[in-house]
Amino acid sequence: MDQRKTPVLDAIEQFRRDDRYTFALPGHRLGLTLDDRAASVLSRGAFEADVITAKAAVSEAEELMADAIGAKQAVFTTCGSTVSMHTAMLTVTGPGRKILVDRNVHKSVVASLILAGAEPVWLRPRWDAENQIAHPAAADDVAEALRLHPDISAVLMITPTEYGTGADVRSIARLAHRHGVPLLVDEAWGAHFPFHPDLPTSAIHAGADLVVQSLHKADGGLCQASMILLCGDLVDPVDLRLRLDLLTTTSPSALLYGSIDAFRRRMVADGPQLLDDTLRRVNHLRVRLGKLSDLTVMDELIVGHDSVAEWDPLKLSVDVSRLGLSGYQVKDWMEERRRITVQLGDARRVVCSLTYSDTDIALERLAEGFENLVAEPPAPDRPAPAVPPLEELNLEQAMNPREAYFAPTEQVTDPTGRVAAEMISPYPPGVPAILPGERFNEAVVDYLRAGLAAGMTIPDSADPSLRTFRVVRHERAIG
Ligand SMILES: Cc1ncc(COP(=O)(O)O)c(C=O)c1O
Repeated sequence: MDQRKTPVLDAIEQFRRDDRYTFALPGHRLGLTLDDRAASVLSRGAFEADVITAKAAVSEAEELMADAIGAKQAVFTTCGSTVSMHTAMLTVTGPGRKILVDRNVHKSVVASLILAGAEPVWLRPRWDAENQIAHPAAADDVAEALRLHPDISAVLMITPTEYGTGADVRSIARLAHRHGVPLLVDEAWGAHFPFHPDLPTSAIHAGADLVVQSLHKADGGLCQASMILLCGDLVDPVDLRLRLDLLTTTSPSALLYGSIDAFRRRMVADGPQLLDDTLRRVNHLRVRLGKLSDLTVMDELIVGHDSVAEWDPLKLSVDVSRLGLSGYQVKDWMEERRRITVQLGDARRVVCSLTYSDTDIALERLAEGFENLVAEPPAPDRPAPAVPPLEELNLEQAMNPREAYFAPTEQVTDPTGRVAAEMISPYPPGVPAILPGERFNEAVVDYLRAGLAAGMTIPDSADPSLRTFRVVRHERAIG
């Protein structure tokens, strides 16, 4: 196919070239209603490109995307990878059906389980005690779970994690296929992986059947631009389309589709060179930061550590604990003192998501930020919460997530031993520490309360102060 084409961008332009007036939505009439204040902040161009009829060009743009990356089919979505995930999950599983799921999932997966009414069989992520970080589950864990639960309908992995460590997708795909079930991969950070050999193997090339990617996380799309990629014969494309139709908006934004179209064209034309340059710049940055003895910068040596099969070099994970500081404090310090926003701060590290948009100037600024931090570290202003070993956070799934979510609930100050009716997801990365149907233990309650006091962001708890927790009033046993 001619990868120079951009059907959505062309359709937007064509609409503006034709002498048309529309009495259909959207009512802003390509921005006619904008006042100067809105125009100066949002730009008239954004409204002029909000041409809803351009969605007619999306199927051709999807074909071009599938062709560019070697997928059987690509489906663009406009409500973030959250809705892509709901769509993918509702396609491969349903009420009462078992699905094998990496417990290290983003909250959108838990919401999908609730919507689907499916029964999770959890794969426990591997706890790296040395780095105090969870890596994706290993292929051996998948093999064992499939042996114990022959009635599993699909396997779901999240890879790479927000820290940049990736699963052995190829082996896991082989296991799932031998079992006759599809592998769904949440690859939200990896839409550029197919365009450079020194990045993690893209899940679609490693044999996954359904892959969810965000275009806005590490790539050139506008926020909420996402896609689902389909390969193989284990997933019915018609089911996928019907599930998306069930969940998505009927008024998608042409801006989002256009940004996906533009991303694909740019990647095919210039991606290998852009990513080559970026990897070289990031390598220099890593070497420079590696000279700061109070910092530990994650590098390729992480591969082979426990279950880590791949590593994303564009995730800059910097352990700051030797400075006596938490990642929460350093995140705030970077924001306040250097005007630099990092992707994530946790109990002991900060993670920056680097992309091909980051120039030498930007990376110099980041390097200086870290050098300045090490030269004149702030006094610790809060205790870092002790992260309990993962085994202590492996909670019993006492009820089905959907059942617990819709059960009569109450708020209690001491939830230990009770079944959660809510999901509580420190963000980022947005992995629930507890989810509906899991039984609270003391470790998770202490961890969340101490984390909140140390600056952890918790956007989804029923009581934002964590003084109380939402639990099921009358517990019902699973099954
Ligand atoms: C791994 C992962 N999956 C899914 C999502 C959901 O993506 P979105 O914010 O585009 O809805 C996120 C968001 O942070 C994520 O990190």
